Amino acid sequence: MGPLSMAGGKREVLHWLDLLQQVYAANRAWLTELDSAIGDADHGINMDRGFIAVQAELAAHPPADIRSALQAAAATLIRHVGGAAGPLYGTFFLRAAAACAGKPELEAGDVVALFQAGTQGVCERGKAAAGDKTMLDALLPALEAMRQALAEGTGSVEILDRAAAAAEAGMRATIPIQARKGRASYLGPRSIGHQDPGATSAFLMLRAAAEAWRA
Ligand SMILES: Nc1ncnc2c1ncn2[C@@H]1O[C@H](COP(=O)(O)OP(=O)(O)OP(=O)(O)O)[C@@H](O)[C@H]1O
Ligand SMILES: [Mg+2]
Repeated sequence: MGPLSMAGGKREVLHWLDLLQQVYAANRAWLTELDSAIGDADHGINMDRGFIAVQAELAAHPPADIRSALQAAAATLIRHVGGAAGPLYGTFFLRAAAACAGKPELEAGDVVALFQAGTQGVCERGKAAAGDKTMLDALLPALEAMRQALAEGTGSVEILDRAAAAAEAGMRATIPIQARKGRASYLGPRSIGHQDPGATSAFLMLRAAAEAWRA
């Protein structure tokens, strides 16, 4: 790839992970407040702690390539986040890492493949479906929007912008539904009327990706 290549790569992925630390720090209170309504009031704390640890890990051991960066994020999240979100986001990044194996740059299709693999991992690990009021209610519509944008021939930034918009709509759509997975499901119908914290952190993740690829 020459200097005029439109493909992003390691720089974008590292920027994304760095932004995630900033974004979860800035939204720690909001995520925790959402989780206090239908969970155990730790989601913002968990995500903030996790991505601080990811930054520390990347600084201590600069990754050689995209796969190693995402792998380091996965291992760190699994070790430091705990709860439901730790293993789920850990799996997301582990599968995303595998999807980037051997790729020095990410073309638009590779960016979609990264999110497809990650989302698939969350589906398999959490065994939740669309409409269960989980992070998948943001991730699955985002993936669908990405696939559509890719099919229309748009570039990575536009793909991620559309994914973030779809994730935001999916996040809001968790408000009127009843949780069928995770801690919130113990509340039964009392989970209705509250936005899912995990769908919110997933929207923030997508929006940060759009920002990382834009910059
Ligand atoms: N089976 C699942 N599949 C996908 N996402 C899930 C699942 N269970 C929970 N989640 C997501 O995880 C979020 C909660 O994450 P959090 O970090 O607060 O873990 P937790 O529920 O407190 O975990 P634990 O119950 O193990 O303490 C939920 O808002 C939901 O989006
Ligand atoms: Mg919680």
